[in-house]
Amino acid sequence: MKIAPSILSADFSKLGEEIAGVLDAGAEIVHVDVMDGHFVPNITIGVPVVKSLASSVKAPLDVHLMIENPEKYVPEFAKALASADGRDLKQDYIVVHAEACEDLSNCLQLIKSKGVRAGFSVKPGTPIEQYEQVLPLADLVLIMTVEPGFGGQKFMEDMMSKIEWLVGRRDTSGGKLAYEIEVDGGVNEETAGVARKAGADILVAGSYVFGAEDRRGAVESLK
Ligand code: DX5
Ligand code: ZN
Repeated sequence: MKIAPSILSADFSKLGEEIAGVLDAGAEIVHVDVMDGHFVPNITIGVPVVKSLASSVKAPLDVHLMIENPEKYVPEFAKALASADGRDLKQDYIVVHAEACEDLSNCLQLIKSKGVRAGFSVKPGTPIEQYEQVLPLADLVLIMTVEPGFGGQKFMEDMMSKIEWLVGRRDTSGGKLAYEIEVDGGVNEETAGVARKAGADILVAGSYVFGAEDRRGAVESLK
């Protein structure tokens, strides 16, 4: 199980230190929540922050775009990642929301054409089965277990059926489907167990990890 702390809950006045701390505590991936105030009712960070992180953080970055019109901005985010000297973009993810893409296949192909791992996410109210045809293009599928927009919400356990469905498709694909399954929202030591049992590969955790005094203990408790 890989852990991806969401910097949304970090102290932005010392972001570098905060990220170094959670990586040192055993986390593998850094989750970056980009919100535009349209797709979700909140505004967070954008391209310049991703650019700084790309050159200062060695660990994989998982850029979760909660924005409208992602086709327009994917090239800019990919460019921000690529601006870091010697960075291997194949370790990083750009994740778009299926609901926001005019054509999800095109969107995933666009991300892949930049050399970055391509992911898509679905909101709690969006069924996953309708995207079966695009699964071969996905390196990652992100299942939201809260309504996107804010940290600190309650985990929706009924989303586990989406994870089980994704595991089932992958297991019976004869190696054709190779996406990782990521869970985002309301992850803590109890709900991590639920997501693990359902078959998640990566857990995003914001408030639980950054809110903990003992961050090493918090990361370990999720694995
Ligand atoms: C919500 C974001 C999440 C959020 C998770 O829209 O996508 O990544 O930061 O925060 P917690 O872990 O506090 O639910
Ligand atoms: Zn997120």
